[in-house]
Amino acid sequence: MPKIKIEGKYPLCGAIKINGSKNAALPILAATLLSDEVCHIDNVPPITDIFNMQNLLLETGKHSDFQKETFLTEASGELSPFASYQFTNRLRASFLVAGPLLAKTGFARVSYPGGCPIGARPVDLHLKGFEKLGACIHTENGYISLKAEKLRGNKIYLDFPSVGATENLMMAATLAKGTTVIENAAAEPEITDLANFLNNMGANVDGAGSDTVTIRGVEKLSGCSYSVIPDRIEAGTYLIAAAATGGKVTVTNVIPEHLNPVIAKLRETNVHVTVKGSSVTVEGKSSYKAIDIKTMPHPGFPTDLQAQFCAYLSGAKGTSVITETIFENRFMHIGELKRLGAKIVTEGRTAVIEGPSKLNGAQVIAGDLRGSAALVIAGMMAEGTTVLEDGGHLFRGYHRMVENLQELGAHIELLEQ
Ligand code: UD1
Repeated sequence: MPKIKIEGKYPLCGAIKINGSKNAALPILAATLLSDEVCHIDNVPPITDIFNMQNLLLETGKHSDFQKETFLTEASGELSPFASYQFTNRLRASFLVAGPLLAKTGFARVSYPGGCPIGARPVDLHLKGFEKLGACIHTENGYISLKAEKLRGNKIYLDFPSVGATENLMMAATLAKGTTVIENAAAEPEITDLANFLNNMGANVDGAGSDTVTIRGVEKLSGCSYSVIPDRIEAGTYLIAAAATGGKVTVTNVIPEHLNPVIAKLRETNVHVTVKGSSVTVEGKSSYKAIDIKTMPHPGFPTDLQAQFCAYLSGAKGTSVITETIFENRFMHIGELKRLGAKIVTEGRTAVIEGPSKLNGAQVIAGDLRGSAALVIAGMMAEGTTVLEDGGHLFRGYHRMVENLQELGAHIELLEQ
């Protein structure tokens, strides 16, 4: 794992163009399995999770070329509907190939997915939905096998608006016979992006972005050209980093409405945020207010920005309370923030932050993607040198983060181990 060294107390200043969304691109790449024809997908971020998905697609027989930010799938012959542990343990989103493989080939054998260690992250909601569509499910030796000659549309109620389950079931239902209605569906912008991609391929998906998604099955999906939406989590991370260092940063190439919760919460801390066209600018302050945050399904505050906000709020004046409602174990960064001098007490899914704390550089280790981003932010807030021991997690989700931060004025460097 590469290490990242940060010399703190340099405010970030400048502009940064945001990449395509990781969480939108991953299901879209999985969805290419639904068509035998060529798909041309732009604005795909060159990050580790995408390369892992590309390898997984290759294992199933779907060849592709990925240059710069363009992902081009080749026309495919017969698919091999297997996803082995070798690839699925690196990527939670690997399970998103299950729905497309099942719908396209009538069978899928997929190893239980890996990913960030932020909670149990079961796939029961995906499986319940596949059963509703008529699949037989068998679990053995860490693999889930799904079988259905032809999926049949049905009404599916999700016990929780799971992003992954909504995506998997939406993809599977595109080639089912009849109509599928997913109730209590997730409404994240990445769901809408996937639906738009599927509709470009000739699918009939309606209602994405609301809590009820209707999919009328079609016979066949074609190839298409598509461009992935900007990454709201990457944008949010840089906005929070700018505020945390008392700097001024503009993120460009964003869809500002996707950033509404983070903009609202930054403003509540009393920093200045302006929105102009597809750009958002934050101007930090040396003193800012403590606030409360509760993570929620979209359009609530995204859990993927909770850790970064936690670092930022350690410098806020007063008591902040963060409640994590989506994942049961998403406070691993807090122990490390405390090593830097943050005053945080956790109880269950609640963290109480007393600020402002004067952070001091230290050696830290994160263990997950967004927690790593939080520690980079905290390192930039701290006096002296911070070394992030497991910096490799960052590359799963952020393209050129170290270089980008250097260009914005941070004193940060990548140390090879
Ligand atoms: C996606 C995102 C991730 C984000 C999360 C929540 C991708 C690739 N990842 O993950 O970055 O943090 O949404 O916005 O898009 N659950 C179950 N059973 C299931 C499925 C989920 O209990 O079958 C639970 C999970 O354990 C978790 C909660 O539901 O506690 C939310 O999970 P989900 O929305 O499915 O997240 P992912 O799709 O895994």
